[in-house]
Amino acid sequence: MIIKQKGTIDIYGDETKKRIYVNDLIRIICEKYNYGYIETPVFEASELFHRGIGDSTDIVSKETYDFKDRGGRDITLRPEGTAGVCRWFIENKMYGNLTEPVKVYYNEKMYRYDRPQLGRYRELTQFGVEFIGADDVLADIDVIGIAYHTYCLFGLKNVTIKINTLGDDEARKNYKEALLEYLIPYKDSLCNDCKKRLEKNPLRVLDCKIDCDSEILKNAPYTIDYLNDVSLERYNTLKEYLELMDINFVEDPRLVRGLDYYNHVVFEIVADVPVMGNLALGGGGRYNGLIEKLGGPKVPAVGFAMGYDRTIMAMDYSGVNFDLKTNLDVYIMYVSNCEKETASFLTQELRLNGFITETDYLDKSLKGQFKSADRMNAKYLVILNDGDLNEMLVNVKDNLTKEEEKVNINNLVEYLEGHM
Ligand code: HAM
Repeated sequence: MIIKQKGTIDIYGDETKKRIYVNDLIRIICEKYNYGYIETPVFEASELFHRGIGDSTDIVSKETYDFKDRGGRDITLRPEGTAGVCRWFIENKMYGNLTEPVKVYYNEKMYRYDRPQLGRYRELTQFGVEFIGADDVLADIDVIGIAYHTYCLFGLKNVTIKINTLGDDEARKNYKEALLEYLIPYKDSLCNDCKKRLEKNPLRVLDCKIDCDSEILKNAPYTIDYLNDVSLERYNTLKEYLELMDINFVEDPRLVRGLDYYNHVVFEIVADVPVMGNLALGGGGRYNGLIEKLGGPKVPAVGFAMGYDRTIMAMDYSGVNFDLKTNLDVYIMYVSNCEKETASFLTQELRLNGFITETDYLDKSLKGQFKSADRMNAKYLVILNDGDLNEMLVNVKDNLTKEEEKVNINNLVEYLEGHM
């Protein structure tokens, strides 16, 4: 038997319905915030992610699916959406005529060779937004606002945005130096990966999954203490806006996030989920240097992404009503094979007229068909029998009140429209 790969999941039945429910809400909220839908390829040149996300990050050094295609090109399955959107932005010279910022959202499969566990997969789905072309704190608020409101719309309670700032390039550089100076005396106590991180990129030590709870990291310097005046003022303005918008946030002075491209605000969305406790469901931040790093002009940008898998799990545990029932408008049933042709015609006719319609494909008895209609919560039953059909009539039964009426087959659509 061939089985699915480790860290992948089949999505069907109720799980599909939950995703459709989430997708619909995402589409509605993105329309309100004026984000347009974008799809970028599943695979890109490896260099895009290696350069964009950073070679010293865990995502790139341990988790990317890298391979050579049959033409000998270095290819990577996308581990996240931001770098691909930036590549699209640069390749299509979207910056050439930037009268308005570019606001896009995606809903895509990502691939990370992660250690699979509950809510963590190797093939995962992310919803993300990217807001490109504005450096104003208003743009940060737009993105944090959509992240926060999406989770509230999902029905999750106790949603908190954890925020921090890395400051501009100068502040980030100052902090990096201070952190290195602080960590060097502890080098021998750090895990082997962190010893290497220390040389390549000390910031990455802060999101080490092994050392994260150690006293050494708990006492590490705060980014906020190394901000210059401009970065500090920007951060304070952001907090004022968040308060004004009534967005529930807390400051986490050591939040740096696991991707290298951030500066200024970084944030994570955490929900207090029954049984599971605090779950980090998504994150993002400002990345003013990424487009330039990928070969484009200097264009500021900010964005966020959430994982579907963890979010739906959190919604499940929080008792969100996903509306999983199949709700048919009409179930067409037939007494014998003589009415099958009419059943087939009517099913199609009603569907084309906008009714969610189903019929029997398994030659079930009438009793069996009644049971199927009930299982699918059909509002109306249309029962066909030879005798009535000869007079152009069908029996229409309201499946809730059990009232039944004979209706001329040519008036069926009108009748149902009048009763739904
Ligand atoms: P990220 O924090 O790497 O950020 O991923 C965002 C979210 O994807 C996580 O919070 C988590 O919910 C989900 N996720 C990550 N890895 C897995 C996994 N192995 N299994 C299930 N879910 C997972 C980014 O990807 C950035 N591109 C976000 C961003 C957009 N920043 C700016 N714009």
